[in-house]
Amino acid sequence: MVHARGGRYLVAAVGLVLGLVAGGSWAETVPLGSLDVTKMTAGWGSPQVNQSVTGKPISIAGKTFASGVGTHAPSVLHVELDGQATRFTASVGVDDGAEKNGSIRFEVFADGRRRFDSGPMQGGEPAKPVDVDLTGVRGLILLVTSSDYGIDHDHADWADAAFEVAGAKPVAVDRPSEPEVILTPKPGPAPRLGGPRVHGCRPGRPFLYRIACTGTRPIRFSAKGLPDGITLDPDTGILRGANPAEPGRYVVTFQAANDHGKDERTFTIVVGDGLALTPPMGWNHWYTYYADISDQLFRDAADAMISSGMADAGYQYVNIDDCWMVKPGSNDPELGGSPRDVDGVLRPNKRFPDMKALTDYIHAKGLKAGIYTSPGPLTCAGYAGAYEHEKLDAQTFADWGFDFLKYDWCHYASVAGGDDLEHLQKPYKKMGDILARLDRDMVYNLCQYGMGDVWKWGGQVGGNCWRTTGDLGLRPAARLPGFYYIGLANAQHYQYAKPGQWNDPDYILIGVVGNALDFRSQPKKADLTPSEQYGYMSMWCLMAAPLIYSGDMSRLDDFTLGILCNVEAIEVNQDPLGKQARIVRQSDDELILAKPMEDGSLAVGLFNLGEAPRPVAVSWSELKLDGPRRVRDLWRQKDLDDADGRLEAPVNRHGVHFIRLWAK
Ligand code: GLA
Repeated sequence: MVHARGGRYLVAAVGLVLGLVAGGSWAETVPLGSLDVTKMTAGWGSPQVNQSVTGKPISIAGKTFASGVGTHAPSVLHVELDGQATRFTASVGVDDGAEKNGSIRFEVFADGRRRFDSGPMQGGEPAKPVDVDLTGVRGLILLVTSSDYGIDHDHADWADAAFEVAGAKPVAVDRPSEPEVILTPKPGPAPRLGGPRVHGCRPGRPFLYRIACTGTRPIRFSAKGLPDGITLDPDTGILRGANPAEPGRYVVTFQAANDHGKDERTFTIVVGDGLALTPPMGWNHWYTYYADISDQLFRDAADAMISSGMADAGYQYVNIDDCWMVKPGSNDPELGGSPRDVDGVLRPNKRFPDMKALTDYIHAKGLKAGIYTSPGPLTCAGYAGAYEHEKLDAQTFADWGFDFLKYDWCHYASVAGGDDLEHLQKPYKKMGDILARLDRDMVYNLCQYGMGDVWKWGGQVGGNCWRTTGDLGLRPAARLPGFYYIGLANAQHYQYAKPGQWNDPDYILIGVVGNALDFRSQPKKADLTPSEQYGYMSMWCLMAAPLIYSGDMSRLDDFTLGILCNVEAIEVNQDPLGKQARIVRQSDDELILAKPMEDGSLAVGLFNLGEAPRPVAVSWSELKLDGPRRVRDLWRQKDLDDADGRLEAPVNRHGVHFIRLWAK
């Protein structure tokens, strides 16, 4: 459709040009801008045809381009082709509107395979040419991501972008949606015992444990070999009393029975110095409620942990994060006032009228309670911290009945006096020594975002788990969802994890969650595909990460509970050997993690980090195995065909094949 006007050839309104391509067939040139660019996403503003994202002429390193699409990272466009397209060409770069700022990466995926990768491009850098052969291709993805931490100034141009097609015009489409398929089978009516097989505690402190068991209640519980001083309520499965005074290993056998069947399992109480001999499992309010918390919220969360079945799958801790204390300088009558009483004892704010009554409520259900503070004068959110009151505050938390402490660096920076290793360790060692001498077992969660390679020394200062990165909820989405970047960083430190000392990649943000970038926005469904959610939980299980959910406990749906409560996935996380999965292989497109289990089996995750479904394979030599293996699909809780030498499975975009292999 070439129109002659004024002696010149002009592109028709839809921008189609006819040309002769190699091979002699006629092809049309279709500018990217003639597609429905409202289907293209942008991290800021909206995509513009023949203009930059700010509505100015497209310009890269001083060169202007008459056509193209201006967008902003992160940006994705899915295009459907009929297999008759031949080429996609463009010049890409950071738009000059970013004034030499910005750092972005352009990628083109054809049927899921990466066919162009600009690598990181900085503002002011000349445009890079894109020339992708589209022969036979049906799905194209144009992707722009930030190649540094934030998305500020990431103005991205697909300049002169066009398709050469011999058949139908390319069509911009929405990202294909994935149905929410629940893979986890519903727990059967017969009792099935789960949760940790080992429990660490210190001599003589209070003992509390609710036996994790699925199946139709009422279930009758019994325990053989219980040490003196611990008693079991046979109807609830809650054990209470005092830890044995003598260090040692006390092997108890739990039994659970109902009209449908029975189950039996050993549980070893290890009395000594170690706590959290398996990764802590629970819930924390931060990523859904932020400062909007009260005593009632935690009572409701404890109720929901029981009624949802999460406690039956092994979840135990109901943890308060920041914002429960007084906020110095606040005008809010509920938050203001003096942070401490005349004796220096820390006071909760008015939304928490009686902390002891709150932990009593949680403990009555057999669950445990967690609390939060900072070694600094203030917490991250500006509430009163423990600075210069560490011992008194720790004793206060113990008196109130807390079982878990998250200790968050934050405003400690203002009083640290240095940032070398000694200064980084000082506040954590101080609190670690205090906690070890308390009359109560308190799991110690270090939160200082990985500074000074905390994985190398967190255990030496008494830590049971330590955050290895910044906040997961603040990680901007790039090509992969944030949890993959945090998870990939955490995965590198696998050799440091062991029983009682875990790498912590932060909370599980699925189901309905808040927005850490905007505390006031309403919590909403996490922006993750079903496959990404399976990938998230599998990765956390394989990495022996604390399993702390931080979504809305009052809006748990069956899909979310299926992800959180698959007992065979949790079994991998809670394995007493306490190894974090080793990275077997990692590339832009694939990740293989393998976790040795106490019974000699191997849990393996085959992750597809690419943009389309693809087969992912792993060989026995990579896994350091030989001989035939029995293979079990952990999400579906189903045996697969045995495999020998190698295993390959189709894996969804950003999803996982999560399996466990036993010698035959
Ligand atoms: C930091 C921590 C978060 C949360 C907030 C509370 O950002 O990393 O996990 O505790 O502080 O203010």
